Amino acid sequence: MEHIRNFSIIAHVDHGKSTLADRLMEFTGAIEEREKKDQLLDTLDIERERGITIKLQAVRLKYKAKDDQEYTLHLIDTPGHVDFGYEVSRSLAACEGALLLIDATQGIEAQTIATFWQALEQDLEIIPVINKIDLPSADVDRIKEQIADVLGLDPEEAILASGKAGIGIQDILEAIVNRIPPPKGEENKPLKALIFDSYYDSYRGAVAFVRIIDGEVKKGTKIKLMSTGKEFEVTEVGAQMPHMTQLDSLKAGDVGYIAAAIKDVRDIRIGDTITDAKNPTEEPVPGFRPAKPMVYAGLYPTGSTLFEDLRDALEKYSINDAALTYEMESSPALGLGFRCGFLGLLHMEIVQERLEREYDIELITTAPNVIYKVLTKKGEEIEVRNPAQMPDPSQIDKILEPYIEANIITPNDYVGAVMQLVQEKRGVQRSFEYIDKKTVLLRYDIPMAEVLFDFHDKLKTATRGYASFDYEFKDYRPGDLVKMDIKINGEVVDALSFIVHRDKAYRVGRNIVDKMREVIPRQLFEVRIQAVIGSKVVASARVAPLRKDVLAKCYGGDITRKKKLLEKQKKGKKRMKQLGKVELPQEAFLSILKAE
Ligand code: GTP
Repeated sequence: MEHIRNFSIIAHVDHGKSTLADRLMEFTGAIEEREKKDQLLDTLDIERERGITIKLQAVRLKYKAKDDQEYTLHLIDTPGHVDFGYEVSRSLAACEGALLLIDATQGIEAQTIATFWQALEQDLEIIPVINKIDLPSADVDRIKEQIADVLGLDPEEAILASGKAGIGIQDILEAIVNRIPPPKGEENKPLKALIFDSYYDSYRGAVAFVRIIDGEVKKGTKIKLMSTGKEFEVTEVGAQMPHMTQLDSLKAGDVGYIAAAIKDVRDIRIGDTITDAKNPTEEPVPGFRPAKPMVYAGLYPTGSTLFEDLRDALEKYSINDAALTYEMESSPALGLGFRCGFLGLLHMEIVQERLEREYDIELITTAPNVIYKVLTKKGEEIEVRNPAQMPDPSQIDKILEPYIEANIITPNDYVGAVMQLVQEKRGVQRSFEYIDKKTVLLRYDIPMAEVLFDFHDKLKTATRGYASFDYEFKDYRPGDLVKMDIKINGEVVDALSFIVHRDKAYRVGRNIVDKMREVIPRQLFEVRIQAVIGSKVVASARVAPLRKDVLAKCYGGDITRKKKLLEKQKKGKKRMKQLGKVELPQEAFLSILKAE
């Protein structure tokens, strides 16, 4: 174990994590220069064809250090997006150290700080790396100042590097060996392994990526998953080197994978502990919690997709994605569908896209919403995951909404613009701090619902792309919230209802009907759109009826043009939903996202 080092690379997006990881693999011979381009890609293609994820979750590297000793290094990947914050923390829990990568031209950004804190919470040895020093605009002194002032680390310990130009790679490897402590743990104790990642492999079944804390696991070991008590017999253990490579065993301190003919990836929960069924450990690794969805949306079949098709696709898909939850729901407007829970908006987009692409499903998504907690006058607490199910206002005592804690880093020229934006989003400022002469770190508490919509885009626009943003869930707080319904030709369309702050209700109502008027195609009759709160109409608009047939313009002459028009119509139809007589496009359901 003295010769094992377990580490992650943490960084803000685009600071060069993948490039550096490739370099480390290349330098240590895990991939040859030639193989990198040809063979590795070839195998990855085959693996892809076989339906295996190509992501490298934890790569084992061999490194002969300057002290002439050979070390085994495990590079553990962390997901790069805030939606997967809990998974980041589990990956870090499998390490003793982390390389904190900072782009020398950008400096510290929001995710740099967020991941730095996560690494500190796990007590990791942090090695700052100033990356991309090959660029002429690299400003190493400024970054060093930030490392000292913002992170409180010794800037002289930072390694200057360039993943792209191959500068500082050996220094990084030496620092990993010399500064990061070897794992602790005992081989003779009962098996205790932390699951930090998982995926589904059509050949091996659900595979767990683990850090062995104590004990040993090999083919034939009867294992138990501690959160559920389910037992399986191990069929294979191994490590990514970087290909999946079978090994005789994994021992305390090791990182690798365990396959046990597990059919459902939901049995392998990230953060859970694997132990020996016959000789179990007493205590699981602390901190396990099941992934909790933060955002909900309705998914409804459309076009030629039937409800059963969508159900089958969701069943199959979720074998691969343990974080997705779904339950059947029925909407008077849209019929039968599913209310799905996602970790965040990115997760939602991924699921939606994969269902469409890989399972050939046509679907309509309703606008995403957060989970509200409603305290009724009778003293009950209800969780509302679908705005249409909000109780009648006469029964409501209080509505609580989730808040996030946000870090925003911006050049000081844009501080005014950021403050104005956050104020519009009902944010409460917590702190204001210069991290160097030209850069400010702002901390806010903001209602999560406000960030779901278009916050990130607006922040980027307001700061010409310079600000960065990161957040985590904080708590639930009461808000003066109301439910707004949308009526189409006099009928409430339940799938379009949403919750909005009372002060913004008129503006949002106005914008949403205007937006819907733009996206609803003209039909043979007039379409009236109204935003209402209870029985009160807040805003309304109408889509005038269609006068002519689309094809009438073509006089039957130009056949290609005719075809094109028909195709265009067909495409447009693809994501439409028939509501009684009215056809609504997907955009209409997401109008709320653009209504502020
Ligand atoms: P995500 O995977 O999106 O989080 O990005 P990442 O952090 O893995 O960054 P990636 O390695 O993909 O690099 C981002 C961009 O920076 C790419 O265009 C790289 O070519 C470039 N880049 C990475 N490292 C260096 C470097 O050392 N020098 C220079 N000049 N460019 C670099």
